[in-house]
Amino acid sequence: MTPPTGFKDHRAASAQGAAPANPDRAERSRFSLTVNGQERTLDVDHRTTLLDALREHLHLTGTKKGCDHGQCGACTVTVNGRRMNSCLSLAVMHEGDEIRTIEGIGTPDNLDPMQAAFLQHDAFQCGYCTPGQICSAKAVIEEIREGIPSHVTGDLTAGLEMSDAEIRERMSGNICRCGAYSNILAAITAVAEERG
Ligand code: FES
Ligand code: FES
Repeated sequence: MTPPTGFKDHRAASAQGAAPANPDRAERSRFSLTVNGQERTLDVDHRTTLLDALREHLHLTGTKKGCDHGQCGACTVTVNGRRMNSCLSLAVMHEGDEIRTIEGIGTPDNLDPMQAAFLQHDAFQCGYCTPGQICSAKAVIEEIREGIPSHVTGDLTAGLEMSDAEIRERMSGNICRCGAYSNILAAITAVAEERG
């Protein structure tokens, strides 16, 4: 039978004396990255997303899988300080990177100010979107402080304000099926104001 175009026929390669590629190793890599301040080593298939590497290989299940298609923001983590949908990025691309997940942001006994504000402002119901919301919210405050413009930023020479419109726009990639948006906005605004 003629193999389809692009299909590597290992039997033909062997018959010609070439060693067939090891199908188990050819598509894997071993590499290290830093997760929540700790160096971790992964040995994963190249097709493994950062989200699956965190959840299935490193057992950090705080980061959630909502859509697995870059549409909900439940999987948001930060990579070298910038937020990212971890379901859209391959783990193997992150050798040497610094990843921070919700497990690296406060603890139940020592909450991060953003976590405390979410509690205080009742900014969640089921909580499924919350790890992603919190990772995103912390990064949003930094983005505005650094003057990184968004779609709703008007005069780029006037400096950025921590306005409701800026926060809403920047959080628009984090979907909450429970509809806690107004309380999420209140929590983020409270943290931004606390920090002055
Ligand atoms: S799970 Fe990544 S954006 Fe929805
Ligand atoms: S709190 Fe339920 S999805 Fe946001």
